[in-house]
Amino acid sequence: MNADAIRVAPSWLALREPADAEARARDLADALERALPASGSRVIHDLGCGTGSMGRWLAPLLAGPQHWVLHDRDADLLGLAAADTPGPAADGAPITVEAKRTDIARMHARDLAGATLITASALLDLLTAEELDRLAALCAGAGCPILLTLSVIGSVEITPADPLDRRLAAAFDAHQRRPTERGNLLGPDAVDFAVETFRRLGAEVLVRPSPWRLGPAHAALVAEWFTGWVGAACEQDAELAGQREPYARRRLEQARAGELAVTVGHADLLVLP
Ligand SMILES: C[S@@+](CC[C@H](N)C(=O)[O-])C[C@H]1O[C@@H](n2cnc3c(N)ncnc32)[C@H](O)[C@@H]1O
Repeated sequence: MNADAIRVAPSWLALREPADAEARARDLADALERALPASGSRVIHDLGCGTGSMGRWLAPLLAGPQHWVLHDRDADLLGLAAADTPGPAADGAPITVEAKRTDIARMHARDLAGATLITASALLDLLTAEELDRLAALCAGAGCPILLTLSVIGSVEITPADPLDRRLAAAFDAHQRRPTERGNLLGPDAVDFAVETFRRLGAEVLVRPSPWRLGPAHAALVAEWFTGWVGAACEQDAELAGQREPYARRRLEQARAGELAVTVGHADLLVLP
């Protein structure tokens, strides 16, 4: 694993799972079902599966027997994913799961051999351009549909607005694009990069907005997201540090009082060979 590999907390993934399920573009799942072979068992590779949230959302929307191959580099998350399996399928067909410790950036075509579908959720923005370029070529080479959900696009709207929001948002985006030992992360540029790359490879790409729309019903998620957002922004722009404490206190009070609404922009892509 790279020294700068970001570990994702299972508690964060658990907190965001219901909002992710609400946000993903349902019509792409319907288009996907139409694009998959009508019969036979479906072999689905989920890249960067975390605790398996994508499978729990998608498997019940697809018909027929499914075998999910869950890939992640984090053994603890893989263990949780294997223990909380999705299903059943839309028509009650059985679902099986296999967990594989994989570094997505170093996969080979043989790792995806026989895939009927490749998925990933909240992954693309964590990759570098070189990694995404290589991954796109591998996935396109598998010759099956690819569903890539919930990539951040760098748009955040917080209501009520605060004069500091724009500066924090800019610093957060810069943090998402930060240099690592693997190269600069794509962050909010990942969607445009992926669309262009897959189209260059000859695939059809459908793009849908899939924002989180968070309000009083998501108070715990808003507070956690907000704390991470401000923390990353201040790590990026040290001059924000002096304003951090009063801003965060103000915003978290609003969140606790159910007065804060946050829209975090994402996009979902369905790539058809
Ligand atoms: C933000 S989480 C999303 C997890 C899950 N897909 C979801 O939607 O809940 C990103 C996941 O990608 C994994 N990941 C990131 N880079 C990876 C890489 N190069 N190889 C394998 N897994 C990776 C992380 O370990 C983490 O589980």
